[in-house]
Amino acid sequence: MELKDHVLIVTGGASGIGREACLALAAKGADLVVADFNLAGAEQVAAEVQALGRRAKAFKVDVSKAAEVKAMVDFAVDQLGTLNGIFNNAGISKVQSLLEMDPASYHRVIDVDQHSVYYGLHYGARKMVELGAKGTFVNTASIFGYVAARGSFNYNAAKSAVVAMTRTGALELAEHGIRVVAVAPGFIDTPMMGEDPSIKPPLAAQHMHNTLIQPEKVASVVAFLFTDAAQAVNGSTVPVDDGFLAFKV
Ligand SMILES: NC(=O)c1ccc[n+]([C@@H]2O[C@H](COP(=O)([O-])OP(=O)(O)OC[C@H]3O[C@@H](n4cnc5c(N)ncnc54)[C@H](O)[C@@H]3O)[C@@H](O)[C@H]2O)c1
Repeated sequence: MELKDHVLIVTGGASGIGREACLALAAKGADLVVADFNLAGAEQVAAEVQALGRRAKAFKVDVSKAAEVKAMVDFAVDQLGTLNGIFNNAGISKVQSLLEMDPASYHRVIDVDQHSVYYGLHYGARKMVELGAKGTFVNTASIFGYVAARGSFNYNAAKSAVVAMTRTGALELAEHGIRVVAVAPGFIDTPMMGEDPSIKPPLAAQHMHNTLIQPEKVASVVAFLFTDAAQAVNGSTVPVDDGFLAFKV
């Protein structure tokens, strides 16, 4: 119960890594706002969190919209009484070669995967400083914040920015008792992978165990990073990639 009396927001909480993070954080005692574009999915996960004995509220948000992220932060404090951090996790990919990538596709991925993290840190930290609340932000970066992938010009740009914003956020917020860290998942077995099973084996082969990573393995690292046991981890992005980056450098 290391996170007892902590109020956290999880974006992208309806599915994949976000859903598993909600369950892992609730198991450590946190009360949660499960925020997602998919409200029905968020309500389902909030019910699962309540079944674990924690308080949970669902909130519909488009994290690419500043006003909606600000409203999400206000909702958490109104409904659950305080705020101790956000798992800025919601994200999308739109695979397209650089030669084919139109501005709308480029900007959508930057808006959802990059600007959302700025909004979460900005509005979340302002609220915490106002309340005098301490806590942690965890951002979802990616192995593709470090290495290039074909068709991922937009995603590579956004996730590299998440790694950078994690560093600067930590630097500026430490004096307020707020840590900022990130995870860089490898290839995770979530709906983001799509329906085509043939893409999975070549991705799995890039991990040391030759298998995709299950989302609960990312969630357990995320939940640890929110606890005081991870107090000395700050500004860093932790790979959860079964050795992918170790193969590359
Ligand atoms: N799956 C992977 O291999 C992998 C690898 C590295 C990083 N990631 C990152 O992990 C994060 C979670 O992805 P996942 O694999 O769990 O995918 P997922 O598709 O299972 O979950 C993503 C969730 O985000 C929500 N979402 C999407 N756009 C949104 C928006 N604009 N506003 C609010 N919610 C929105 C979706 O509704 C969904 O519930 C993403 O940031 C993704 O880039 C995933």
